[in-house]
Amino acid sequence: MYTPELINKKRNGKELSQAEIEFLVNGFVSGEVPDYQMAAFLMATCFTGMSKDECVTFTMAMANSGEMADLSPIKGFKVDKHSSGGVGDTTSLVLAPLVASAGAVVAKMTGRELGHTGGTVDKLESIPGINLELGKDDFIRIANQVGVSLVAQSASLAPADKKLYALRNVTATVESIPLIAASIMSKKLAGGADGIVLDVKTGSGAFMQKYEDSLELAKTMVDIGEGAGRKMVALISSMEQPLGLAIGNALEVKEAIDTLKGEGPQDLLELVLELGGNMVLLAGVAKSLDQAKDRLKACIANGAGLKKFAQFIKAHGGDPEVVRNISILPRAKAVQELAVPRSGYVHAMNAMELGMASKLLGAGRFIKDDRPDLSVGIELKCKVGDRVDKGQPLAVLHTDGDTERIGQAREKVLGAFSITVEPADPPRLLMARVTSKGVEELA
Ligand code: URA
Ligand code: CA
Repeated sequence: MYTPELINKKRNGKELSQAEIEFLVNGFVSGEVPDYQMAAFLMATCFTGMSKDECVTFTMAMANSGEMADLSPIKGFKVDKHSSGGVGDTTSLVLAPLVASAGAVVAKMTGRELGHTGGTVDKLESIPGINLELGKDDFIRIANQVGVSLVAQSASLAPADKKLYALRNVTATVESIPLIAASIMSKKLAGGADGIVLDVKTGSGAFMQKYEDSLELAKTMVDIGEGAGRKMVALISSMEQPLGLAIGNALEVKEAIDTLKGEGPQDLLELVLELGGNMVLLAGVAKSLDQAKDRLKACIANGAGLKKFAQFIKAHGGDPEVVRNISILPRAKAVQELAVPRSGYVHAMNAMELGMASKLLGAGRFIKDDRPDLSVGIELKCKVGDRVDKGQPLAVLHTDGDTERIGQAREKVLGAFSITVEPADPPRLLMARVTSKGVEELA
């Protein structure tokens, strides 16, 4: 096979065979297909797309490029959750222990930050002593003992995705439905869970900004997962503004603890119950979605979710005291309050800009080897739809005291808000639920 011919075929919108796709993916991983040819193929795919068969073959070739985790030593139905990437998206931190406390087994591979979005591994690492870089045996042992274990994605899991993602990141080929679907699903299939609940984000802070594209992405991923014998649900949720009030690593751990105590922000709780309810339902622990959600609410009210979080932290070598005493989390050197510039209603809040502002404060990486400052970030004091008065707090910056960074972040945060005299409605959070049976619009 000649790589230029395959690129040409894709450029002309023709369908590639299984053998041709496997040749490209395997050749890229082994180094026989160089970056420039793969980049050309990826760009052609951005323009002409892929057929369903091609996308499935592409995903399976990526999943099979490394180790396929065998979770059969973990008892019960294993359920995983994955988000397509959001800002201040604290859900996984709350969901993993909460769903486990409701009786489902959560065995989840999880990632670090990507672009303007944060990562669960980084967030959890603000808990003193915790270790998510586990070997397979420890991962399985903890999942069996505690009912929940999270492990940082290892280099041996879907290495084709790792290499492709790095190339897409710098060749403007991230925003493509088949490429995102294959990237996410290759990792999820290799991760080995029996059931997968996806949170597909849509809006200004998401990789897919248009609802129709997010819906297409959700349908594609559900098809791929079901085709591979996994039980799938995808929810489409709005990322027009950050989720909850905290953006930043330790700040989000605190927000997760508040939410497990029943004192968290309303939108975070709503998404947690919807995603978690679907996880519990897939696991067969409840008979209906309403029953599953009621069970999760009970686990918040009676403290079972918080207790499970402490057990999980302890099993991973961290200090479980954090659930009672958040002052053991890293604390920022300096805090600075931003005031509301004029009275009115919060009309919009650009999630991507706020995600970038948090990175500017040091919460993220700009080159691969940067070490994020786990203490810094942004605490929002209002949400879209709120009435605000001039001089009242808009947001609090948690900083390392570096005045240049603070100045840049301030500008970005202020620029992210649009405040109008006319009242504004809060955006709808939950848009749709997609399964193999079809699309259900959520009110
Ligand atoms: N998340 C992923 O893992 N891959 C993508 O391509 C986009 C979001
Ligand atoms: Ca948050």
